[in-house]
Amino acid sequence: MEQQIRSIVEKYFPTETIESIGLFKGRVIITLQNTAEDKDKENALSKEVKNLEGIDKVTVIYTAEKKPQPLKDEPSKWVVKGVKKIIAVASGKGGVGKSTTAVNLAMALAARGKKVALFDADIYGPSIPTMLGYEGAAPISYDGKTFEAFEFQNIKSMSIGTLIDRNTPLIWRGAKACGAIEQLLTEVNWGEIDIMVIDMPPGTGDIQITLSQRLDLDGAVIVSTPQDIALIDAIKGVNMFKRVNVPILGIIENMSYYVCPHCGARDNIFGHAGAHETAAELGVPFLGEIPLHIDIRTYADTGRPIVTAAPESPHAKAYLEIADEIISEL
Ligand SMILES: Nc1ncnc2c1ncn2[C@@H]1O[C@H](COP(=O)(O)OP(=O)(O)O)[C@@H](O)[C@H]1O
Ligand SMILES: [Mg+2]
Repeated sequence: MEQQIRSIVEKYFPTETIESIGLFKGRVIITLQNTAEDKDKENALSKEVKNLEGIDKVTVIYTAEKKPQPLKDEPSKWVVKGVKKIIAVASGKGGVGKSTTAVNLAMALAARGKKVALFDADIYGPSIPTMLGYEGAAPISYDGKTFEAFEFQNIKSMSIGTLIDRNTPLIWRGAKACGAIEQLLTEVNWGEIDIMVIDMPPGTGDIQITLSQRLDLDGAVIVSTPQDIALIDAIKGVNMFKRVNVPILGIIENMSYYVCPHCGARDNIFGHAGAHETAAELGVPFLGEIPLHIDIRTYADTGRPIVTAAPESPHAKAYLEIADEIISEL
């Protein structure tokens, strides 16, 4: 079937622009690389694909990013001393709960006995210092060369927010970001770390690609809400990591459903299970769903992630299960 779809797509768009063709329960998602939107071709193509047996929905996604050029010199990887594995927590757009997920995942991995570091690389909205309670603190150096990581319960942490604050213009942040992140990663005394979790900047632009290449990532976790718009961005995220050969550990659906804190009733306010289907379409693991719940937000905002503040809560258990899955994948 995929081959049939591919030959139809090739009638309308050049072969080299076809990045992926996903197929799941009658839904087809075609991702075209570096291609300008062309509604006429898209409509004709969709019509033809829908004529195939069992297909009832076709989505075409155009990604604007260029394929990263194979560099003449292999880009040198940043050496993060003492750290065995690095995983990225990423999202196609901001506000989907990437940082909340990163911080709780880090706590959950630590609860499973791993030595964990949490690095905040989100130049657009560094929020880990707030979530771990070191907001406003500057990194300390004892020898004038290296910095000490912040410690919260049993995890170590550092944030790009300690070098650039929210008032710094975006352009400046973008331009300096990679250098500043490299400096912090390589000049911090991490000690012995089993898994470093990186809260990535949202999106799939040049900075994200560069970071993904330089960091020598062992895997990426994509966070999305169930809405179509967020999911399309999540697909771009998955494709970006695939392009730079970073294994996708899976997709997490955040704000998956709403649980009323008073009566416990459950509501699918953003739709539900969209990320599950998208993961299946893309052939990547689905790691689990986290509900929209006030406790998750209030704990995060007061520097006490729910996994450690309320370890017996069903939400903490959901993060712990995801951590188990990630450990077994790594
Ligand atoms: N599952 C959830 N339930 C309730 N609130 C959440 C949940 N996930 C995130 N939030 C809240 O939503 C806001 C955005 O989350 P955040 O993790 O900062 O997103 P991002 O890092 O993707 O921008 C925060 O106020 C956070 O506390
Ligand atoms: Mg964030």
